[in-house]
Amino acid sequence: MKFLDELNVSGKRVLMRVDYNVPLKGETIVDDNRIKQSLPTLKLALDNGASLVICSHLGRPKGAPAPEFSLKPVAVRLAELLGREVRMAPDCIGPEVQAMAEGLKPGEVLLLENLRFHPGETKNDPDFSRELAKLGDVYVNDAFGASHRAHASVVGVTEYIKDCCGGLLLKKEWQYLGEALENPARPFVAIIGGAKVSSKLGILKALLEEVDSMIVGGAMANTFRKAQGFEVGTSLVEDDLLEEAMAIMVEAREKGVKFYLPVDFILGTDPKGGIASGVRTYQDIPADEMILDTGPASHTLFAEVIKNAGTVIWNGPMGAFENPAFAQGSINLCRVVGAVSGMTILGGGDTNVIVEQMGMADKFSFISTGGGSFLEFLEGKELPAFTALENKS
Ligand code: 3PG
Repeated sequence: MKFLDELNVSGKRVLMRVDYNVPLKGETIVDDNRIKQSLPTLKLALDNGASLVICSHLGRPKGAPAPEFSLKPVAVRLAELLGREVRMAPDCIGPEVQAMAEGLKPGEVLLLENLRFHPGETKNDPDFSRELAKLGDVYVNDAFGASHRAHASVVGVTEYIKDCCGGLLLKKEWQYLGEALENPARPFVAIIGGAKVSSKLGILKALLEEVDSMIVGGAMANTFRKAQGFEVGTSLVEDDLLEEAMAIMVEAREKGVKFYLPVDFILGTDPKGGIASGVRTYQDIPADEMILDTGPASHTLFAEVIKNAGTVIWNGPMGAFENPAFAQGSINLCRVVGAVSGMTILGGGDTNVIVEQMGMADKFSFISTGGGSFLEFLEGKELPAFTALENKS
């Protein structure tokens, strides 16, 4: 696979796919990390004399323009971060947009409107891909967050532009995540949290093949404990996955992977507005209360497992962390992982939010910008973005 640092883009118009799917409150960008992470790629292309036509999706509009999903606020923030003008196109294809793209001089930047305002984007429609391809002489994909989507701007467009390559962010994600799986320093510890086992089954199974220890926390752990025969009150449980959860624990034992679940909990009755009612163990959970965070004994146990790790992969919170009453387990975990001297790799929206809130982003080796793509990469699934670029090399 080729990357931007191997290509001469001087005097070329670069069509660059990025993932600017950033959280918005009205027109305010709540977290601009994805924009910041794209800057080295943008700057490299601009410094080398290219002009840039940047495209992205934002949210999940239903194939038609919707003002709340406009990329206009992103254009404003990008201009601030880049320190140069960013023109905003009224659409992402069509004669007017093409004229704007063709009018760009080296060093100039045009941001296209949300790709998902057209149904052809998510359908990977060849006509839409062809229209998009008209906007660049060279195609660069730096959208790791969207690399698991076989969409027109990720896959289809590569059929119609000769020179295609990955950006610097795509390269970094590929190298860090690939290295962690191919050649991990040991002991290798995976920490998987979050609400649902169903959304993480693939990654749990895939990581069992790789790791020395696995910690499962968050509401997911309830399904595992219930599978072991414990009562979990009104806690979130996926009853249809009890057998699957048991099979994972059996497999871990057979493979010699040490498997850890929380041993004590902070309980409550309402994850959002509620208060913590106390610390309990599994033997002791009232029928009308739910597990909402891990307790101090779990923290001590997990810290022992994590502190001497050679490699840590962490995805997902330990509890209902949006409510400060149930955030301590995730905060403690963030501190422990942040103190590990080995390789520490994090990913997923909630995990990134915890790290941002703690102001600890510089304490980890690598924080992936991917959500679903991060999980699919670790599951060992083929990512359409990488396949499309590899086919061009
Ligand atoms: C993400 O935020 O995970 C990516 O931008 C992909 O978004 P999507 O799940 O709407 O395709």
